[in-house]
Amino acid sequence: MKKVLMPLVMVAVLAVIPYVAVEYGKLEYLFGVVIPYTAAVLFIAGFLYRIVDWLRRPVPFRIPTTAGQEKSLDWIRRNPIESPHRAWEAAARVLSEVLFFRSLFRNTRAELHKGTTLAYASNKWLWLGGLAFHWSLLVIVLRHARFFFVMVPGFADFLDHADSFFDVTLPALYLSDAVALAAVTFLVARRFADAKVRLLSLPTDYFPLFLIGAIVTVGILMRYIVRINVMPVKDQMLSLVSLSFAPPGEIGSLFYVHLFLVSVLLVYFPLSKLMHMGGIFLSPTRNQCNNSREKRHVNPWNYDIKFRTYSEYEDDFREKMKKAKLPVEKQ
Ligand code: HEM
Repeated sequence: MKKVLMPLVMVAVLAVIPYVAVEYGKLEYLFGVVIPYTAAVLFIAGFLYRIVDWLRRPVPFRIPTTAGQEKSLDWIRRNPIESPHRAWEAAARVLSEVLFFRSLFRNTRAELHKGTTLAYASNKWLWLGGLAFHWSLLVIVLRHARFFFVMVPGFADFLDHADSFFDVTLPALYLSDAVALAAVTFLVARRFADAKVRLLSLPTDYFPLFLIGAIVTVGILMRYIVRINVMPVKDQMLSLVSLSFAPPGEIGSLFYVHLFLVSVLLVYFPLSKLMHMGGIFLSPTRNQCNNSREKRHVNPWNYDIKFRTYSEYEDDFREKMKKAKLPVEKQ
């Protein structure tokens, strides 16, 4: 229980701090300028540090995971995605992983039936929930582009229209909001529901879910329930991206909760498992092509081994070997 409560309380405290600070302490400048800039710098530096660190790690061996026939004789049908042979095939595999969570689609669950029989069954819920979570967040983040550009970019406009397709509330309900909320709830519930997953889950698994859940909830509150002034938000974001230190206008305290939680997410990102966002591209089990039969891959830091062939050995010891009546190849 502590594993869940601790991150939950942390997120709640993190949400209360900016609200109280802005509502009663008038600390808009701290929470609207200083903290977002600091968070952005830490995020960019931390993200780059982790990526460069991974890039510098030597990968001497071919270790792609394969689940299909590799390239062999011409008449044997190969599987270019399950066992990529060319770089573009490996790239297609990584992309299919990133965009569609391909390997998670194969997720199975193992259960004991009648106490003794271990049975495996298909389990697509995690795949579906994960996909819904990531795609809806991506759509939300891309839609937010309208706050960062003077002219709303075409893609943000398009997403806005497509996403508010149902038009059932005022302002129009975004499908991505409903999906994101449902998906976060599912991903948290999944960790509670199964005893095995509950045991494996750590506070660092709950914290990002609660944090993202809180950001989405506060966003939804701002849009549909506790209205805030959106124009000063846009002014403030335009000011931040143009690296100005101008103070924010009259926005509303709830916005600072949203912004502060996003800042926490940015700082936390490079330190956490969320780095899988960058790491997936550098994963050697996915991004390498399986061509070891065609090409010899030599460990680049192998030191030169001084070989001594048998004939050299015999040249050195031939006379002694003969005296000891050992057989020699050359007389
Ligand atoms: C600096 C970054 C961000 C700013 C300035 C910002 C600002 C805002 C504002 C002003 C709204 C209210 C929109 C309205 O009334 O129409 C909003 C809504 C929302 N925000 Fe953010 N936000 C940021 C980042 C994020 C992130 C990273 C997430 C997701 C993890 C997120 C999720 C949401 C959601 C779900 C809503 C509800 C309405 C919608 O989907 O547009 N926001 N945000």
